[in-house]
Amino acid sequence: MLLQRRNRILRANPSIRSMVAETVLTPNDFIAPLFIDEGRNIQTEIASMPGYYRRSLDLTVNEVKELWSIGIKCVLLFIKCKDELKDNTGKEAWNKNGLMQRSIKAIKDAVPEMYVMTDVALDPYSSFGHDGIVENGEIVNDPTVEALVKMSISHAEAGVDMVAPSDMMDGRIGAIRQGFEDSGFTKTGIMAYSAKYASCFYGPFRDALDSAPGFGDKKTYQMDFANRTEAVKEALMDVEEGADIVMVKPGLPYLDIVREVKNAVDVPLSVYNISGEYAMIKAAAKMGWINEEKAVLETLTAFKRAGADLIATYFAKDAARLLAR
Ligand code: PBG
Repeated sequence: MLLQRRNRILRANPSIRSMVAETVLTPNDFIAPLFIDEGRNIQTEIASMPGYYRRSLDLTVNEVKELWSIGIKCVLLFIKCKDELKDNTGKEAWNKNGLMQRSIKAIKDAVPEMYVMTDVALDPYSSFGHDGIVENGEIVNDPTVEALVKMSISHAEAGVDMVAPSDMMDGRIGAIRQGFEDSGFTKTGIMAYSAKYASCFYGPFRDALDSAPGFGDKKTYQMDFANRTEAVKEALMDVEEGADIVMVKPGLPYLDIVREVKNAVDVPLSVYNISGEYAMIKAAAKMGWINEEKAVLETLTAFKRAGADLIATYFAKDAARLLAR
């Protein structure tokens, strides 16, 4: 056989494969989500997220130090709000001494270089478990945006580097940007969950924070998974309104959206490798059906190949360790 081109030459051994690899994963790509609870010395494994924990702030600070030591530069904070502090206004979300505000300060004090991001949405604080304020069974947009601005400013006051609004209300990015300008927080960034779909894959996360919607679903604000063009519209609007980074979420079933949005915007793109995606890999690995370490690296590399500059993932710590081997 006489061939002009033999593609296997570039696959012949690990040296040449690594030389021509188009995508290289590093811990710089990772955002590590952290679930924080009240109390001291508490670490609770999340039933539907084996190997992932909700921790009290003291243990969270230790975890952040460890993450920093293995090369992870960014954490994304979520808190579990006590039931008695939840209401329909979500006002605990901008309590100066709330768990989130205390957590931002404690983490920035302990590891000042760690880039701290916070989830901005009312669901952990809402007695209805919705991302916004409820009136007559509807999630009302504009009053919710006002609440999100207050929440974001309180995170900025506590010293957050970048807020990450995950609520999908219209106009919130512009309003938060304006709120930051008006209150002098010109250095605080916004990572917009721009294309966030109404997804069944968020289930384990809602277990972790006890934040499942009390009635209905989130389909009047999160996107319909049938849509692609709409994701581009959302991302472009968020960039226009002042988003520094845009996000696509969930991750794995949405790699087409990652690429589409990446091609459309001139800001970095992040993707959220969400709780249900984590749970599926863990479950299959536990059954002995897939090799977890290989599945993790293949999955994370696929996100980068699809166009993600940053990956929020519960596998951040494991992957950073695997990459250091
Ligand atoms: C809250 C929020 C959710 C996630 C991140 N922020 C859940 C939801 O919208 O119901 C999901 C993260 C995950 O599943 O890992 N607005």
